[in-house]
Amino acid sequence: MEDYNRILDDILHTVNSVDTPGKVATYIPELAKIDPYKFGVSLQFANGETYNAGDYDERFSIQSISKVFTLSMAIQCIGDKVWDRVDVEPSGDPFNSLVQLEHEEGIPRNPFINSGAIVICDILLSELENPKDDYLQFMHDLQGTDKIQYNEEVFTSEKSMGYRNVAMANFIKSFKNIHNKPEDVLDFYFYTCSIDMSCVELAWSFQLFAQHGKCAPDGTLFLEPNQIKRINALMLTCGFYDESGEFAFRVGLPGKSGVGGGIAAVLPGEFSIAVWSPKLNEKGNSAKGMHALELFTTHTEMSIF
Ligand code: DON
Repeated sequence: MEDYNRILDDILHTVNSVDTPGKVATYIPELAKIDPYKFGVSLQFANGETYNAGDYDERFSIQSISKVFTLSMAIQCIGDKVWDRVDVEPSGDPFNSLVQLEHEEGIPRNPFINSGAIVICDILLSELENPKDDYLQFMHDLQGTDKIQYNEEVFTSEKSMGYRNVAMANFIKSFKNIHNKPEDVLDFYFYTCSIDMSCVELAWSFQLFAQHGKCAPDGTLFLEPNQIKRINALMLTCGFYDESGEFAFRVGLPGKSGVGGGIAAVLPGEFSIAVWSPKLNEKGNSAKGMHALELFTTHTEMSIF
């Protein structure tokens, strides 16, 4: 029987004993204020067993991890029609890149790069009466509480500086793959990114992807197992932008990162895990977070490979 408390404590000690290079995201000014030396982890098994270490209870900005939740909602709304608007291939380019959009006529490579998530937000804007309230409700339903909120400072901060995303939304609109006003789509997109969650809350929400579509608080089926299969496949192949291959190679789990320094990942049928450490590597993924997950799956031999 593994002693997961000891394993997580050992990982915490190991990652904190090396001065991992990397920088906190600064292009969203509010994120630049975060203490770069924070580190938290939460491991949750499908049977409810939970193990935590470090700053596991402290909330941080989930940023692009939101892209998994908005995709899930879009699939709930329109099912496979999502794939007419967004492709399912790795991009091999940074998360905020515009280059492929011109050749591919405004169809983003996948829903986990910014361009793809912006199109997903456009779908939700068309489908939902109150997209922001419905998104928050979705997050609350996954959690079983209404404690999760958006962070107004982060939202305003990104909105004031989101020039690349503004360019992207307008460019996609020129190919008619955005149906609403670009400013409305971006307002919703920035909102979805500005949610604050702790490692415990994130891992709990990610039970949805570990438990084949069942939401953790009451076991309600939110998505069909074959829809979760697709989301997990996309997390494995596209969850870390142009570092998705490296993440699969080193960690071996479907997962998703955000520039707030969070990473959430699952071993389907077994567990969800969330880590947080704000310093990012040059690809925009948490440097220590990746290291910690690599140590975890290597030591426990619990990965999909
Ligand atoms: O749109 C952006 O640039 C941010 N709101 C989210 C980017 C992000 O988290 C990329 N992740 N590693």
